[in-house]
Amino acid sequence: MIYLADSACAEAVRGLIDLFPIEGVTTNPTIITREKGELSALLTGMRKTIGPDMMLHVQTMQTEACAMVREAIALKDALGGNFYIKIPATAQGLKAIRLLKQQNIQVTATAIFSTQQALLCARAGADFVAPYVNKLSDICVNAIGVVGEIAQLFREFSLPTRILSASFRNVDQVNQVALMGSHAITLPVPFYDKLIYHPMTDLALEGFDKDWQGVYGEKKPGDMI
Ligand code: G3P
Repeated sequence: MIYLADSACAEAVRGLIDLFPIEGVTTNPTIITREKGELSALLTGMRKTIGPDMMLHVQTMQTEACAMVREAIALKDALGGNFYIKIPATAQGLKAIRLLKQQNIQVTATAIFSTQQALLCARAGADFVAPYVNKLSDICVNAIGVVGEIAQLFREFSLPTRILSASFRNVDQVNQVALMGSHAITLPVPFYDKLIYHPMTDLALEGFDKDWQGVYGEKKPGDMI
């Protein structure tokens, strides 16, 4: 499973990719509006920060298929690199996905809330489908089960489309979708601290440090070898 950052803040992403094994950045319209910046500067700044090889997913705000395609081409031309257009899972979106794939533009089908939406988008040619895990849980749907069904059907029908799960509130949701076979997840930058943190790790390190200092003081192995 690969990890992505759900963010439009280049500075936050820069700090994250310095430390964590992140393979790309996803944005959505809400995340972008939170930054309150000029769109072109925001997105080109993000591309500059992550470089050409990392995935950058940007959502269309068009609702009609041909307009979605035109917007995707404009965004891809402006941002370059490993670009994905996010297309909502609507009927017009399905048409747009087919047209975009004819033009070799990478597509993430987004705002997925059901297994059949995911299957249709995969059949249309989407590279990723993005189920919204916590938003499903919020309406009492077994979100982990939905991700599991999508993974099962993609395997069953040998579909190359990958699952990029989004919308999380806790580490257990992340772990559960990973176990279900989600190929990728996207998380807000601060969430990564929750994923790596464990109090027992801190406790273990405190114990090692105490034992070491009791014998060798402040010297480190590299100073002593
Ligand atoms: O990027 C889409 C998704 O991550 C947003 O979900 O629940 O965090 O608003 P949420």
